[in-house]
Parts: sequence; C-alpha cells; structure tokens
Amino acid sequence: MSDQPRLVVISNRVAVPKARGVAGAQGGLAGALNAALKKYTGVWFGWSGEEVDEHTGEISTQTTDGVTTATMDLSARDIDEYYNGYANSTLWPLFHYRLDLAEYERETGKGYERVNELFAEAAAPLINDGDLVWVHDYHLIPLGERLRARGLKNRIGFFLHIPWPAARLFVSLPYHERLVHTLLHYDVVGFQTAEWLDSFLHYCRTELGAEVDDEAGTVTLDGRTTLARAYPIGIDWDHFSALGATAEAQKAEKRLLSSTRHRTAMIGVDRLDYSKGLPERLDGIGRFFDQHPERVRDLVFIQIAPPSREDVDSYQQIRAELEQKTGQINGARSEVDAVPVRYVNRGYSHGELFGFFRAAKIGLVTPLRDGMNLVAKEYIAAQDPDDPGVLILSRFAGAAAQLPDALLVNPHSPDDLAHAIGKALDMPLAERKERWEKLVVTVRDDNVQDWTANFLRDLAAQV
Ligand code: G6P
Repeated sequence: MSDQPRLVVISNRVAVPKARGVAGAQGGLAGALNAALKKYTGVWFGWSGEEVDEHTGEISTQTTDGVTTATMDLSARDIDEYYNGYANSTLWPLFHYRLDLAEYERETGKGYERVNELFAEAAAPLINDGDLVWVHDYHLIPLGERLRARGLKNRIGFFLHIPWPAARLFVSLPYHERLVHTLLHYDVVGFQTAEWLDSFLHYCRTELGAEVDDEAGTVTLDGRTTLARAYPIGIDWDHFSALGATAEAQKAEKRLLSSTRHRTAMIGVDRLDYSKGLPERLDGIGRFFDQHPERVRDLVFIQIAPPSREDVDSYQQIRAELEQKTGQINGARSEVDAVPVRYVNRGYSHGELFGFFRAAKIGLVTPLRDGMNLVAKEYIAAQDPDDPGVLILSRFAGAAAQLPDALLVNPHSPDDLAHAIGKALDMPLAERKERWEKLVVTVRDDNVQDWTANFLRDLAAQV
C-alpha cells in the first residue's frame, strides 16, 4: 500500500477512543470512518467533543488501533452557533424535510462560517502535498472552499451522510446559492443515493444555471468542474459479522431471549432524533395492539434510543413525546406479567447490539427520512441464517433503495406499520429465509471498505 497517497479525513465528530464501541450514540458516520481509515495512512481531524472557554487552536493527536486522530476543542459560543445552531437547528431539519423545525438565524450562520474557517486553519498544516483530503457531512460544507482560499492544491472530496432535500425545499434556506457555490469547490461530491444526487443536480441546473452533464456526472460552474455521484455507504461486514462469535454478543442474545421467553422480540435502535420516526413508530405499534389486544402475549417491542444533541429544543421535545407515548401504550395494553414496550435511553456496544439483533425476530427501522441507515444493515448482518428475522424498513431511508426485499413501509401510516408488524410476526420460515438471503448479499458485498475504495478511486482520478 506504499503507493497509496496519504489520506486526511475531516469530520465534525471523530471517534475518540473513549467513545469507541458505544454504537448508536455516535451515529453511523464515526463508526464507518473508523473502519475505513484502518487501511490508509494519514490522519482523521475533527472536534474533540469538548467545550473550552476560549478556542486556542491547540491540537491533540493520538493513535489507537492503527488510526491517528487529531482533535481540537471548541468554545461554548462556537458549539452553540455552529453545532447546536446552524448545523443542527438549520441544516439538519431542512435536509431531513422538516421545514417546520428549521430555524434561520443570521448569527448562527455566521458562527458556522467562522468555525469552518477555524477547521481550515487547524487542518491546513496537517495536509501535505499529494494527500487526498476527504471532508464529511453537513457541518463542514464550506470547508473545501476555505482550504482552497489557503492555497491548497490537493484533491479534496466531500461526502454528505444525510439526504439532500428537493430543490423546492432547499431554496427556503437563506443564502442557499452561497452554500452550494462553496460545495462546488470540491473535486468530488458524494451522496448516499441516486435520489439525493438527483435533487442536488436538479438544484444546480435550475437554480444556479450550472452545466450538468448527466452522463459524466459532472457539474460545471464558473469554469470549475465537480464530479457528483452516489456512493451508498455500507457496514464493516468482516468486523461486525465476527462479533457473533464473541462472548459479549452471545451473552446479550441470551439475556434478551431469557427476558422475553415465549414472546417475539421486535427491536429498534436509533439515536433519539425526530428524523427517526419514533413517535410514528409507537403509533403503528399502538395501532397493532388496538387491532390485536391478545397479541401482547406474542410480541414485545424494545426501543433503544440513546439521547442525542440534548441542548437543541426539538430534541428535548421529541424525548418528552416519546416518554408520553410509551407510557400510554404500556398503561393501556400491559398485563401484570407482560409489558408491550421497553424503552431504553442508553447506548450499547456493537457486540451487545449484535446479540440483541439476533435475538429479535423483527427489526424495525422506520425513519421519516434518513441518508442511509446502517442499523438496517447491521440487523441483517446479525441474523441466524437458519432462522433469520424480518426487517421492516421505511421506504424513506436511503437503505430502502438497496434493500427491496425488506418489508417496506410508509412510516407515516400507523395502519401500514401495524399491518407489516402482523405480517412479520406470522411470516413462515421459508419466506423469512428467502428474503434474508437476498438482503444479506447486498449488506455483505456493498460494505464500507468498498464505499471508501470507490470514493477515493474517483477522487484520486481527478486532475
Ligand atoms: C448522523 C450524522 C453524523 C453525526 C451523527 C451523530 O449520523 O450524519 O454527522 O456525527 O449523526 O450525531 P452527533 O451530533 O452526535 O455527531
């Protein structure tokens, strides 16, 4: 691998060693990048997750399991305006089609640009001539342009882990043109699915008047050309599937099985985020038990939802809503010896999740909108080939495009969800196997190593 260029990865969230292993809480990005980076020399730069009084620009570097990370602290004001503000109260809701939750504040917009400049200032010295630079996600859209302004001639790519909204929605963002102009300073811009890519290209063509070459997948504006393509992210198949043999996973599987006894366990694992469709999921489950009250003896739903972005109002509201809905279903449907919903606000290690997924004969992944969703893929990877469970998957998750053999549902419809739950619960073994055998091929073959290789191959090919 000595002929491979060095790789510099930049993302807001970096999997610092103490956070490694706690899946769910950190979302798909950090885990995926950690896996991807093991094969490359270079460095992964980002925010430490720590808050300080004054930003000092100091960088701390460490190497764990073959991955070198460099991190910087941010001040309370930076975190407030850039992370809680523009990234998570403006871009995140808008990109997840939640215009009702998107806030447009001039101050947070300025904070976002200021922190992107801080990232550029701190990252530039880490980048050598010839390195490939790979920037990740909505927190850092302008970073490529900021690096170019510092004279960097390297090939710089960007990958968006979340959806790209339809042009009609995106234009509600003040200064939307400016944001996309910065994006067009990258050599390669990657999206999770063809749907998000098409929305982006449509916007570039209709709103910016850019020249879009559909065949070549390029966008040209002001004499600069960017390759825009879909690169669906996958899981680290080798690592994840090997967890099945660990004592941790086996213990977790037994623990869940012994606590559910004769009931089928149905599981959901999501960051506590409104994009994940958790209240709607509970409505579907409530509808199922309304229609089949006796099945409280057959089915128990376990929702693991580690809290996320707790300083943002909309996240506090969704938490309160979930507590209320869980209480309602359990109050109305519990028997003295059977409670229908177990709701857990903490994260578990990947090993434990593997065991829980295997013990659960139904996996429920029903986001209202999701860039990809790797929980869906992990659920498939954890199944027993002789007795696989059923994946119920939202048609609005990026993963649905790749996993058509799941039971695809409209998460906004309680009836549709209730119907899918009944179908999954009663699905004969032969059908479960047939569906799973098709799903697992995609999950195994389109893995995170392929995703990295595909993106970096295209980036390296840019002149
Ligand atoms: C999603 C985003 C990531 C983010 C993760 C966890 O997967 O695409 O960029 O890191 O959520 O969210 P957090 O705000 O804790 O980093």
